[in-house]
Amino acid sequence: MKVLMINGSPRKESNTQIGLDEMRKIFEAEGIDVECIAVGNKVVRGCIACGGCAKKGKCVFDGDLVNEIAPKFEEADGLVVASPVYYASANGTLVSLLDRLFFSTPFDKTMKVGAAVACARRGGITATWDELNKYFGIAGMPIASGQYWNGIHGRLPGESKQDAEGLVQMRTTARNMAFLMKSIALGREEFGLPEREQGEMTNFIR
Ligand SMILES: Cc1cc2nc3c(=O)[nH]c(=O)nc-3n(C[C@H](O)[C@H](O)[C@H](O)COP(=O)(O)O)c2cc1C
Repeated sequence: MKVLMINGSPRKESNTQIGLDEMRKIFEAEGIDVECIAVGNKVVRGCIACGGCAKKGKCVFDGDLVNEIAPKFEEADGLVVASPVYYASANGTLVSLLDRLFFSTPFDKTMKVGAAVACARRGGITATWDELNKYFGIAGMPIASGQYWNGIHGRLPGESKQDAEGLVQMRTTARNMAFLMKSIALGREEFGLPEREQGEMTNFIR
């Protein structure tokens, strides 16, 4: 069983990473492998809506992480996406990566468990948490939650180690995510995945 973590922060001693490391301890205690990829100091371009991925089965742009992360995501049973809060949103590099990763990958994501982590000095955690959960919500991915909207506070690098409440949230979310992943693995064996209908594309003018 494997969890893939993606951290949007560009910083060394990232406060967001401290939250992820707290989650990692729980996953490892639960016998779940973890791979964590920091994307924030990489150049990741946005989606250009060319539609090329529908033909190629991958993003048309190679070499900026999206196509490297895609097979790791396919293999994983769970995905944690974590972001520093920038202007009450997820940071731009992470959003560019997630747009392209979710849009370009043709594999079924149903019942992979998702969890979001947001980290801020003071404000915007819940807006960012909502934003990140949207990727899971459109992909048939159950969302692991905790005892609060999963966030951790800190401004200067390393400060979030002092946020005892945030660290509890990280551990709780990780425990709930591990439980969901294991339960889904059992359920898949017993019942199989739910039936999936062919998508129907309509819009509001026809
Ligand atoms: C461009 C930018 C915008 C930010 N916007 C917010 C914000 O809206 N709300 C907030 O509380 N902190 C904001 N911050 C502070 C960061 O969220 C905070 O320093 C956090 O610890 C960064 O996490 P990291 O160490 O993992 O990168 C902002 C920081 C930057 C660089």
